[in-house]
Amino acid sequence: MTPNPAGTEPGMLSGFGNEFATEALPGALPVGRNSPQKVPFGLYAEQLTGTAFTVPRSEARRSWLYRIRPSAAHRAFRRIGQGLLCGALAEPNPNRLRWDPLPLPEEPTDFVEGLATLGANAAAEALSGVTIHLYGANRSMQRVFMDSDGELLLVPQQGRLLLATECGRLAVRPGEIAVIPCGMKFRVELPDGAARGYVAENHGAALRLPDLGPIGANGLANPRDFLSPVAWFEERDEPTELVQKFQGSLWATMLDHSPLDVVAWHGNNAPCKYDTAHFMAINTVSFDHPDPSIFTVLTSPTTAPGLANMDFVIFPPRWMVAENTFRPPWFHRNVMNECMGLVQGVYDAKAEGFLPGGVSLHPRLSAHGPDAATTERAIQAELKPQRIEGTLAFMFETSQVIRPTRFAMECPQLQPEYDACWDGIPKGFTGG
Ligand SMILES: [Fe+2]
Repeated sequence: MTPNPAGTEPGMLSGFGNEFATEALPGALPVGRNSPQKVPFGLYAEQLTGTAFTVPRSEARRSWLYRIRPSAAHRAFRRIGQGLLCGALAEPNPNRLRWDPLPLPEEPTDFVEGLATLGANAAAEALSGVTIHLYGANRSMQRVFMDSDGELLLVPQQGRLLLATECGRLAVRPGEIAVIPCGMKFRVELPDGAARGYVAENHGAALRLPDLGPIGANGLANPRDFLSPVAWFEERDEPTELVQKFQGSLWATMLDHSPLDVVAWHGNNAPCKYDTAHFMAINTVSFDHPDPSIFTVLTSPTTAPGLANMDFVIFPPRWMVAENTFRPPWFHRNVMNECMGLVQGVYDAKAEGFLPGGVSLHPRLSAHGPDAATTERAIQAELKPQRIEGTLAFMFETSQVIRPTRFAMECPQLQPEYDACWDGIPKGFTGG
């Protein structure tokens, strides 16, 4: 039976990393025991841990899943083809790189087949770092996927994604993001047909909200705007392929049932989505720019205080009011590594060439900033309050250098003349 008809968005659970409890059948959730001798409705109890058992309580991510069949009931996985997923890396490259959007596939392609890896900053066996993928797909998955290598941050750029997960269903549209825990099984359905977007595969500590320091208790992304699904399941006793990403390779096994059969669950290791329109942007009301970290939505910390394995940062619609200030993102050289994407509109540091669905990579200490046209305009601009509208750029900022894949360095979407956007910045020096 399927309690909620496909294609509808059920009620959601609000909060980030909360201890949720939800059941698709009343009475399915055991009371007072995680693993009672007999689970209601003949279900099996199974724990999905996202952190080591012994981490501090504040770090622990785990959920108890009450399911029709335990996940253990499967035959051996076998290697399958993986297209452009996790292809060989090119040598580390100090250059600023930018790509046009990859074309949408013409052949029938599901989300997993449509993953193309742009780069990575750690070996597959390292439990740190980030791998960055682009996806383009045009048909719903008939199979189910799980990523044993990392947590997935999905940033749709075109087309909604309907994520049917073990914990329930999430409908995610461009402007929203989704986070899927490491190892959670899910299927991506495409209610709009063609879909394109970005994926950060986080191999490090799980993403969480940044501390706010002097900002106080409110602002940036507020916890209540993160939505997790209520329990939902399908009882489908028919052959279903389960695909697993394991140490950079794809493996598959055939089940005789759908593994999306969790009738009830509780815990804090759950998928969620977030609408970036709810981001409370904080910026100057006097002069200068705060550093772009002021736009951090989620962060994956390292053990070094303040040093992120990865930050997810957005540049949403907002007012610009700074006085006597060069308003575009300033020229800078950053010890961190910046991978930027654009969901819609125009990014305020670039007049042209950075397209929705495109991506740029500015490695450690590479010099960058506004292009020549934007710079000239900004110096001459009359500084009135100005609203930046209709745009959503974002950044995956990482502490380790992202090595592009050979595919990324050889594909025709790599812009050979990206450096030229900084040509023509005039020498304005008058002190000679
Ligand atoms: Fe930058």
